[in-house]
Formats: sequence, structure tokens, C-alpha cells
Amino acid sequence: MDGIVSRSVCSYKIVIVTMRTFFIGGNWKLNGNVKLIKEFSNSKEFLSASTSTTELDVVICPAYPYLPTAKEAFAGSAVGVGAQNCHFASSGAFTGEISVNMLEDLEVDWVILGHSERRAIFKETNEIVGKKVQAALASPDMRVIVCIGETEGEREEGITEKFIEGQLLGCENIKEWRADRIVIAYEPVWAIGTGKVATPLQAQEIHAHLRNFLAAQVNPEFAAHVRIIYGGSVNSSNARELAQQPDIDGFLVGGASLKLDEFIKIINESK
Ligand code: PGA
Repeated sequence: MDGIVSRSVCSYKIVIVTMRTFFIGGNWKLNGNVKLIKEFSNSKEFLSASTSTTELDVVICPAYPYLPTAKEAFAGSAVGVGAQNCHFASSGAFTGEISVNMLEDLEVDWVILGHSERRAIFKETNEIVGKKVQAALASPDMRVIVCIGETEGEREEGITEKFIEGQLLGCENIKEWRADRIVIAYEPVWAIGTGKVATPLQAQEIHAHLRNFLAAQVNPEFAAHVRIIYGGSVNSSNARELAQQPDIDGFLVGGASLKLDEFIKIINESK
């Protein structure tokens, strides 16, 4: 994952030395089907955008039933496949749930945990999310996209930083986190699916704050290497400016990741 990445900034090309590979995840939520997976996997443009000379991680996260189809469709390409959730127990009487072992059995590369929709609609607390992250990291290979973010009310109250710190501290094993197994997605709830994107400056401020916080809570080495990605109404018009921020290391894209052309544009705008 480490490397020297060259990205174009403003209208001229400069070289930024960074140890962090840009990460773009497509969170399909309760959308998509076999046809959509095939549309992406048959697109030469998508596959080549995802495998450019610029180092990049592109991960598609379809709903559970489509994970094997997606793994097969993207086999041999640079595109990774992620799940949108999992349970913390490895097996047992938990009707309707799936475990990290099951995801590993399917060779799924990533799992999103603690998405704000899981927290708000399915009442996942910081403690539950923490247990899930711990379970995923206890497995041999699973990599985790852990989501955090404040609501509009929390932002207005001026408690954004404390709130998202609390979400991370719900993960008891935070001190053991490794940058090759974790990506942190900062997704302000007020920006998700609303078309109301955080300004590049707003996002950069929080990302920089998180990096300092992680340097203290985990260690400076982890903080320097961990990808902190932004999510919330990312599209091809705002991706470039957001991607140019020094502490924004990628995106978690919802709605716009369901449209092949738009997602390709987001990838290309991020280079
Ligand atoms: P959005 O969703 O891009 O549709 O705002 C982002 C997310 O929920 O991860």
C-alpha cells in the first residue's frame, strides 16, 4: 500500500510525497443486482481507471447475496470487494446475521462497519461497532472501513470532534490498530445522501484533527499511514477539490457509486 503518489493539483502537476494510497469505496447499500455488477466488471474503462499508474484502491461493496458474484466478476482485476456489515459473533443462534469467518470464506477483502445508517436505523452503539471491529481484526485477513460522523445537531452544538472521538474510542482495541487493516471513513451524517457536501476545508479540518487524535491514541506511525477517507455526497464535481486536501486519502461513495460513468469520473478526478 505504501508508495510515492503523484497527483495533479490545480492546473499544474506537482508531486506530493505521501505514504497513503488513495482509496475509493462504492457503498451500494440496499441497491444493485447481478446486472449492475456485470455492467461494472465488463467495463474496460472502469477496470482501467481502477488500475492506473497512480496507486489506487477501488473497492465495490454490494449487498450480501451479491458478494460471491462480485468476487467472481472482479477476479483478476484490481477491484476489491467489500461487505457492508457483519456480526461480531463467529457463529451461533443469530438468525439473519453473518460472521467475519463467512466473509473470509468468500474471500471478501473489506467490511464496512459502523456506517451511520447502521448506527441510526439499526441502533448500533459505539460498543457494538467496537466489538465488530475487534472481531474483524481478530480474523487473519479482513480489512475494515470504520465509519464515524456527526449529525447536524452535533455540529451546531460544536461537539463534532468529541463526538467522533467517542465513536473511535468505542473500539477497545484501538491501540492495536494497524494501518494496513483499517481505513477510517469520516462521513458527516448531514452530508450523506443529501447532496450537501462538506466543504474541502471543513473535511480537511476534521481529517487533520483525527490524524492528530490517532497519533496520540494509537501511535504516530499509525496516524501517518492510516487512510482517512471522506464520505457524504461525493460526486464527480466535488471529488477533485476534496481529493487535493492533504489529509483526505479517499472517498466512500454512496449514490454516485451506482452510476458507472459517474463513478469512473470520480476515480479519474481523484488522480
Ligand atoms: P452518499 O452516501 O454518497 O450517497 O452521500 C455515502 C455513504 O453513505 O457512504
